[in-house]
Amino acid sequence: TTRSAMVGFGGYLPERVVTNDELSERFDTSDEWIRARTGIRQRHIAGEQDTAVSMATRAAERALEFAGIAPKDVDAVIVATATPDQAFPSTAVRVLHQLGVAHGFGFDVSAACCGFIYALSSADAFIRSGQARTILVIGSEVYSRILDWSDRGTAVLFGDGAGAVVLRATDGDGSTGLIGTHLHADGSTGDLLYVDGAVGRREHPGHLRMSGRDVFRHAVAKLSSSVDEALDAAGLTYADVSWLVPHQANIRIIEAVARKLQMPIERVVVTVERHANTSAASIPLALDEAVRDGRIQRGDLVLMEALGGGLTWGSALARM
Ligand code: ACO
Repeated sequence: TTRSAMVGFGGYLPERVVTNDELSERFDTSDEWIRARTGIRQRHIAGEQDTAVSMATRAAERALEFAGIAPKDVDAVIVATATPDQAFPSTAVRVLHQLGVAHGFGFDVSAACCGFIYALSSADAFIRSGQARTILVIGSEVYSRILDWSDRGTAVLFGDGAGAVVLRATDGDGSTGLIGTHLHADGSTGDLLYVDGAVGRREHPGHLRMSGRDVFRHAVAKLSSSVDEALDAAGLTYADVSWLVPHQANIRIIEAVARKLQMPIERVVVTVERHANTSAASIPLALDEAVRDGRIQRGDLVLMEALGGGLTWGSALARM
């Protein structure tokens, strides 16, 4: 049976770091408030030259280098982003060109903070169906450009960056690779977290709006049932999970899901204190860190989960 394995990891973070103290000079907030409510200490913010395409390309190059795979062997690029540079061409097709890939296909996925899980699930389906053997799955976000910098309730939460994974077909005994992905969406909760504009609307490209308390409540409930669903479907239990790699929105949401899984926080990959919420980029950035520093090892069972605007939510379970 053909399965897809994550064989390469890469990340890119803009050079400029903005601390909580720096934000507290711009509006009425404090390092203490932000750390206590979210766990965030700092975030990376895109410079003039950083775009969804440029950051995705850098992350992709690093992931290919890690995997030892040449760009010419890439069959497809899928980019999860809510902050593309243009309505079209898609970020993915621009990245294909930047990498020098003259064949294959690419498209963007719009599922907000759950975008990476949606993109990974799509890529897995293309590989299992035999339509592609090597796919770059990327999350690339510049939320600093859609934040309302006069709204302290949201401006402190997000950061910019990109992360990439190389997903490759493996025809072995099925012992490594993605075990399963589960996707969900509920449009009735669409007004809890949204952008009040778009490229297709003449007024303005829009700002992010959020009912923080409601999102928090939905996140803990939906992510807790998501991790159960992922393990039940695979016939596995909490004790089998080596690493939880959650979407990095807020340390309190992460801790609540870890408690539900009876996972000590040492077995959870956490980057939110340094990256803040990078939306679709947060999971591949966290994977990149934990694989490169040797925490995540071959044979480990890795559980990923995310929730975002839509609401959209889901999970992915993989044997490394
Ligand atoms: N600094 C200081 N005070 C602030 C700030 C700030 N940055 N932001 C809000 N406040 C104030 C509010 O004005 C309010 O003051 P008031 O009581 O005088 O009106 C007070 O703090 C409490 O505000 P709440 O919004 O009720 O604070 P809460 O404890 O709910 O924390 C937070 C807010 C951190 C946003 C929380 O609701 C949360 O984490 N929600 C999850 C949302 C999230 O992570 N979204 C990310 C996208 S979705 C995802 O990726 C899962």
